[in-house]
Amino acid sequence: MKEKLNSILREDRFEHSVNVMECAVKLSVCYKEDPDKAAIAGLLHDCARFLEPEEMLRLCEKLDIITDDVRKENPKLLHDVLGVFFAEKEFGVSDPEILSAIRSHTTGSENMTRLQKIVFLADFIEPGRKFKGVEELRDLAFEDLDKAVLKALDHTIRFVLKKGQLLHMDTVNARNWLLRDINK
Ligand SMILES: [Fe+2]
Ligand SMILES: [Fe+2]
Repeated sequence: MKEKLNSILREDRFEHSVNVMECAVKLSVCYKEDPDKAAIAGLLHDCARFLEPEEMLRLCEKLDIITDDVRKENPKLLHDVLGVFFAEKEFGVSDPEILSAIRSHTTGSENMTRLQKIVFLADFIEPGRKFKGVEELRDLAFEDLDKAVLKALDHTIRFVLKKGQLLHMDTVNARNWLLRDINK
């Protein structure tokens, strides 16, 4: 899988993918999740990023897998649904847990499983990521998975607002769900 991914992704994206894989494995060991599933989901989460956003949109239209208007208007987001498509078709992945972790890695989603949370967070805190507060988030990730994911979702929302982009409701719903769940 690594070799194949290396042949399709740009070098920096491939390195990011390997970093996410390694980080997801570490988190899976910490939280007693299946490290093999974490590795595959982490490695393949961005496997559709070899396409440009316009190509993603065209392919999704052709495959009839456009999920909503926000993804349509910001087609880079479509690399999550297309990631699932390529993971299945090109990499032979059929495990629904791995596929759902790829599916939710950009926006997050309500009712995320532990594996989904791990991949979402690993994408956020892998060693190549640099943003204010990343060190604290890296520490928190190994102390409290839910609180770390909540912080990452908050960060995503702030980032989208700052950039003046459309905010995806999956992110809002994920954040509200997790906040309620933590305070239960
Ligand atoms: Fe991604
Ligand atoms: Fe990523």
